[in-house]
Order: sequence, then C-alpha cells, then structure tokens
Amino acid sequence: MKVSGICLCLHVLLTAGVLVNAFDPITTTVLVGVGTAALGRTIYNYFHESCDKKWIAFNATGLQTDLDEKLFGQHIASRIVLKAVNGFMNNENPKKPLVLSLHGWTGTGKNFVSKLIAENVYKEGMHSSFVHLFTSTLHFPHPSQIATYKSQLQQWIKGNISNCERSLFIFDEMDKMHPGLIDSIKPYLDYYDKLDGVSYRKSIFIFLSNAGGESIVETALDFWRAGRDREEMELKDLETSLSLSVFNNNKSGFYRTSLIDKNLVDFFVPFLPLEYKHIIQCTKAEMKARGLEPDQNVANKVAKDLVYFPKFDRVFSVKGCKTIDSKLDYYA
Ligand SMILES: Nc1ncnc2c1ncn2[C@@H]1O[C@H](COP(=O)(O)OP(=O)(O)OP(=O)(O)O)[C@@H](O)[C@H]1O
Ligand SMILES: [Mg+2]
Repeated sequence: MKVSGICLCLHVLLTAGVLVNAFDPITTTVLVGVGTAALGRTIYNYFHESCDKKWIAFNATGLQTDLDEKLFGQHIASRIVLKAVNGFMNNENPKKPLVLSLHGWTGTGKNFVSKLIAENVYKEGMHSSFVHLFTSTLHFPHPSQIATYKSQLQQWIKGNISNCERSLFIFDEMDKMHPGLIDSIKPYLDYYDKLDGVSYRKSIFIFLSNAGGESIVETALDFWRAGRDREEMELKDLETSLSLSVFNNNKSGFYRTSLIDKNLVDFFVPFLPLEYKHIIQCTKAEMKARGLEPDQNVANKVAKDLVYFPKFDRVFSVKGCKTIDSKLDYYA
C-alpha cells in the first residue's frame, strides 16, 4: 500500500511536469514548486501522524467489540460510553465538546476504557500526538504553582485544539485536581461557537476519579445481599447516591467547581467493583495478551491471591484487576 501510494504521487507529479512544459518558465517553476510541496506533504502525511481521516477515523464496531470482549463486569459503563462516543463522533456539528466523567473503585477499568476509546478514534491510540493524558499528582503537584499550571494548561489546550480540533484530553485523578485548575478548563467545555477564534466543539474530555466509588460499592453490595443479579443494576440505581457522594461532598474537587451546576459534564459513568469471576477473566485476558494459553488453574491461583472485601463476605476485589500483571509473573 505504501509503495503504490508513493508511485501514484510520483506519477501525478511527472504528468504535471509534462503539462506545465507547455507554459512559460515562471509558471512552470511555480507549478512544479507547488506540486513538489504537495507531494512532500502527501508523503509526510503518509508516514507522520496528521490531523486527517487517515489518522483519525472513528471505528464504531471496533469500540463495540472491544467493550464487549475486553471490558469485564461493566455493563453500565460499557453501554453509556458506546452511546456517548458513537453519538458524538457521528455528529458533524456538535454544539460542545464531549465531556465524560468516569467514576469508580480502583482497578475497575477507567484508564482501560479511555485507552479503548483512544484506540478506536486514533490510529495511533494512546501514542497519538492528539491524545493528551494529565495526571494531577504528576503534572500539577504543587498547590503554590496553580497560577502557572492554569496558564500552561490553557495554552496547551488552546494550542493543541488549534492544531487539531479532534483532540482528546484525559484528566486522571480528577478528585485530586485543584478546583481552581478545573475551573480554568471550564470555558473549553462549554457551548461556545468559538473562543478567540478557536472551536473546541469536536474535542473530547475524559475525567477519571475514584470519587463516588464507595457509594457505587454500597449499591453493588445491596444488590448482592438481596441476591439480585449484578446485570440487573441500572444507571438510575446508582445516580442518586453517586451524585450525593461526589457533588455534595465538600472534600471533592468537583464540589467546589461549577462544572456540575453548569451541566458541562455530558455523562457520568459509574464503574462497578469487580468480583472473583472478573479477576479470572482479567487474568486469562492477560495470559492471552502475553501469547500464553489461558489456563484456569493459573487464573484461580492469581484470583485466590488477591484480597476481597467486605471482610467476611469477600465479594469485591480490593484492587480490582490491578496487580494481576505481577501475580502472573509469579504463577505463569
Ligand atoms: N473491567 C475491566 N475489564 C478488563 N480489564 C480490566 C478491567 N478493569 C481493570 N482491568 C485491567 O486492569 C488494569 C488496571 O485498570 P485501570 O488502570 O483501568 O484501573 P482504574 O479504574 O483506572 O483504577 P484507578 O482508580 O486505581 O486508577 C487495566 O489496564 C486492565 O488491564
Ligand atoms: Mg486509573
């Protein structure tokens, strides 16, 4: 494919060269110059990621398959994410950027889902130069530096969206982010046609946090104790307690920002705590990814090695599917 693409370009250039010979030398020089520049650009774009359909092409079936086959135990999150991203990417003229807020216990797949979204929008996935991941404690560690962080972050967002309107920004540890910093990105999430000549409406913002994780666990435990199927759980079962714990909690960064009351977040996505059977699934998936034959015995050993809570019922994995990697190094 690559070679034929280049041949075609050369052919076009040579043909252009023959045609321009019929004209005067100055025009010829200009046209060949333009042709060479265009060829150069085409070849460059072929090998180097650029903000076009070759590098940014939403794969709706790919996202659905990934969520169905790779994400375990998250039927609610899976449904919301698929609908939200599908709807947004198929809308040629969105009124605002897509803003998703992913909440839940540790190791339940929040970063993992962000990665699946990136992989099905950008050919380069998380390595794309249009995907930007910020981690509060890493990128914005010092409260005394907030003013500097604010202006750097605003410049980064503006500069990158000016360069490519289909940019993805992921903010990890959102609950540890300074409220002032959250407020500084608010204008970009809003219903503006353009801000200083830049349109932010085709970008995606994903916020990740553990905020609300405990209330989601409580609801999941209620279901388990009532002997109800986890899959019966719906968004409406979680919404009230989630909003109480996230938005009415004055320790939460969200509480002190107007992100919520200005309705700038389009979807709150709850992640359920993972059970033993999901740990088995994660372990087998990891074995497959390493080129090993998924082995039930090894998966059982790994799953049994993890800690579960509450203390006596031992229903949910304390670390979700995290740390499976290192356990597998030991048992496989
Ligand atoms: N629901 C899941 N389905 C499949 N794999 C999962 C799931 N949850 C976690 N994993 C696996 O565990 C790894 C760690 O999960 P991830 O980083 O997404 O957790 P997280 O929800 O972001 O946790 P934290 O709140 O601690 O940041 C993932 O890379 C993935 O391999
Ligand atoms: Mg995470």
